[in-house]
Amino acid sequence: MPDFKRTLITAALPYVNAPSHVGHLAGCYLPADLYARFKRLRGEEILFICGSDELGAAITISAEKEGVTPQVIIDRNHTLNKASFEKLGISFDYYGRTSSATHRETAQQFFLTVHDGGYLIPREVPQLYDEEAKMFLPDRYVEGTCPVCSNPNARGDQCERCGTYLDQTELIEPRSKVSGTKPVLRATKHWYFALSRFQNQLEDYVESHRRDWKDNVLQGARSWLKAGLQDRPITRDLTWGIPVPLEGAEGKVLYVWFDAPIGYISATKEAHPPDWQTWWQDENTRWVAFLGKDNIVFHTILFPAMLMAYNAAKAGAGSNPSSLIPHPSSFESSFILPDNVPANEFMNLESQKLSKSRGWIIELHEMLERYPADVIRYAIATMLPEQKDSDFTWREFQAHVNNELADIFGNFANRVLTFASKHFENKIMGNRKELDVAGNALLAGFGMRAKDIADLYERFRLREATSETMDLARSANKYFNDAEPWKLIKSDKEEAAKVIRSCLEALRALAIYFAPITPDASKRILSTLGSDGSEENWDNAHEPKLHGQVVLGPIEILFHKIEDETVAEEVKRLETMAAKVDAVGAGVGAHHADSALSTSGATMVAPEHSALISIDDFKKIKLRTALILEAERVPKSKKLIKLQISLGDEKRQIVAGIGEKYTPEQLVGKMIVVVANLKPAKLMGQESNGMLLAVNDENGVVSLVAPEWASPDGLEVR
Ligand code: 2FM
Ligand code: ZN
Repeated sequence: MPDFKRTLITAALPYVNAPSHVGHLAGCYLPADLYARFKRLRGEEILFICGSDELGAAITISAEKEGVTPQVIIDRNHTLNKASFEKLGISFDYYGRTSSATHRETAQQFFLTVHDGGYLIPREVPQLYDEEAKMFLPDRYVEGTCPVCSNPNARGDQCERCGTYLDQTELIEPRSKVSGTKPVLRATKHWYFALSRFQNQLEDYVESHRRDWKDNVLQGARSWLKAGLQDRPITRDLTWGIPVPLEGAEGKVLYVWFDAPIGYISATKEAHPPDWQTWWQDENTRWVAFLGKDNIVFHTILFPAMLMAYNAAKAGAGSNPSSLIPHPSSFESSFILPDNVPANEFMNLESQKLSKSRGWIIELHEMLERYPADVIRYAIATMLPEQKDSDFTWREFQAHVNNELADIFGNFANRVLTFASKHFENKIMGNRKELDVAGNALLAGFGMRAKDIADLYERFRLREATSETMDLARSANKYFNDAEPWKLIKSDKEEAAKVIRSCLEALRALAIYFAPITPDASKRILSTLGSDGSEENWDNAHEPKLHGQVVLGPIEILFHKIEDETVAEEVKRLETMAAKVDAVGAGVGAHHADSALSTSGATMVAPEHSALISIDDFKKIKLRTALILEAERVPKSKKLIKLQISLGDEKRQIVAGIGEKYTPEQLVGKMIVVVANLKPAKLMGQESNGMLLAVNDENGVVSLVAPEWASPDGLEVR
C-alpha cells in the first residue's frame, strides 16, 4: 500500500489550436485514465485533473490561418476535445480551461508572489519589431535564414532543418510573418525567471527520484541539468495571454509555459473551492503528472523550479510596491512537487510520424465515429509507447481487437452466459461457496496474479498490465475448455452448475480487472450479473460473491470484430488524406501547425518524402575530421562561435551556433567532424567555410560529433 493518503493525477492540458489525436491518447490521456481508474478500484482517494491550454501564440496562429478570432478556435476545440474524452471514458474529475477567470487570477498571483520574492528579474532585451504592423514579433511570427545551416525558412525559435534552437535576433534576413516586411531591432522589457538559482535544488529533487522515475524521464531531466540551467524569459509581447500584473508591463502577457502548469492548480480550485489546498499543499498528497515526452522538461525542471520559487517566496516574502494586485491570502503552505512524471514517448502511425499538415493523423472525434471507446482503449493500451516510440498500424489494431478482445475476453463472456441461459434458465444456480475444485483454483490464481498486475500499474507498466489482464481471460477460457460443461451437463447437472457458477464468478472478476481498460464492457457484464459496480474492488475481486438464483440480464455481443475491408478502408483513408494535402501543398506555412507546437502525444514533424538516398548522393558530401585551433564568440551573438580549424593541409574559418552550450575555451583542441564542401556563407557578417556536425537532442542539448580516437585532422569520414 502507498505511504500517501491521496493521489492527485494530472494529464497535460492539451493545446486547443487543433483537435486532439490518437498520438495524444497514447502519450498521455489513456495512461492517465488507466491509472486513475485502477486507483479508484482500489478504493484510494484520487483527484483526476485536466483541461484545455488555451493561450499563447499557438492559438493566435491557428486563428489567423482560418481568419477567425482566437476565441472561436478555443471554444470549438475545447468543446470537441472535452466531448471526445467523455466519449472515450477518460474519467477526469474536472476539466478546466486556462481562459477562465480563476486561472487568470491564480496565475497572476503566482507571478506576483514569485516576483516579490525576487525570482523574476526585468531585463531590457533587443527584439524584432514590425514597424508596419506596429508590434513586437513573437518568435513564431518571424522567419529568416538559419545562421547554422542557411535554411532560408527558419523560424524565430528553431530551425526545422538543422534543429538548432534559435534566438529570433540571430536570424539572417528576418521577415515578419505579419506584414512581410523586414523587422527592426528594438529594445523591450521582459521578466526572466531565475531558473539558474535552482540548479542544485533541482538536481537533488531529480536524483531523489532516480529509483522511481522512468529512464526516459530521468534522462530528459538530467540532460538539461547537465547542460546547466539558464534564466528564462517568462513574459511575451502578445495580446492573447494573461496580462503581466505589473505597472510598466502593458501589452505583455505571461509566457504560455509559465501559466499552463498553474492551470492544474486553478482547475483544482474550480473543482474544489473550499479544500483545493488539500490536493496541492499537503504532504499526504502525492502528485503524479502524466504527459508526453515533449513536456518532460517543463514538468521536471521548469514547473518544479517555479513551485520552489513560490514556496521560498512565501517563506520569506516581503511585499513589493510595484504589485497591482494585493497579496494573495489564500496560499498558505508549500506546494508539493510531482512525485512521479510517467511520461510516454511518441506513437507513430503506420511507420510515419504523425503530421497534421500532411493529413497523416487520426483525430479522436473521427475515430470515435467509427469505433466504440472500449475497442480504441484496449488496442491503444497494447501499443503504448512506454519505453520507446511505438507504431500504430490498422492491421495491429484489428489483430488486437479480433484475436484478443473479441476472441478471448468477449468469447468467454459469451460462452458462459449463453450456456447459463440455455441450460439454467439464465439463473445462477447453487450457493456462493459451491464452486468446483478447478474453479476455486482459477479464482485463487486470479487473486495472486491481480497483485502482480497491481504492481505493474504502480510502476506505470500499463502495457504489460494490459497483456497480463488478457492472460487472466485466457486462463478462464482454458478452464471452461478443460471442464467441458457441455459434456457434464448430460452426465452430472449439479457439477455442471458448479462449473458455470465458477465461470460466472470468474467473469465478474474479469469485469473488474478489465474495468480500467474497457469500462463500458465491464459495466455491461456486471449489470448482467446483477451488480452496479459500485461495490467492486480490485483487491478482493477474486472472492466469490454472486448470490444464489440471481437472474442474469440480457446477453449482448461485447466486441464486434473488425473486417479486413475496414482495415483496407482505414489505410486508404489515410493515404487519400495525405495525398489531398500534398496536392494543395503542405508548404512551409503549414509547418506551424506541426512542429511549432509542443504536443503531448506525438511529434508533429512532416515525414520526409524521399528518405532514401543513393550511395552516390552520399558521396557528394565531403566529411572530414578537423582540429579546432582557435575559438572566439561572434560579437552580439549568444550562440555563434567563430572557429579557426585545421583540415590537415588547410586552415579554415567556420561559424557554428553552439555558443550556448560551449565556451570558446572548451572548444580549442577538440577534434570534430565537418562538412568540408559546403558553399561558403556569411553569418552575422562572418565568413563560414563549412559546417560542424553536432547532435541536438529534443531538449536542445548539443554535443559535438567526434571520432572516437584523436585521429589526425583532415581525414575523410565515410
Ligand atoms: O503540449 C501541450 O499540449 C501543452 N499544452 C501541455 C501543457 S501541460 C501543462 F503544463 F499545462
Ligand atoms: Zn538550420
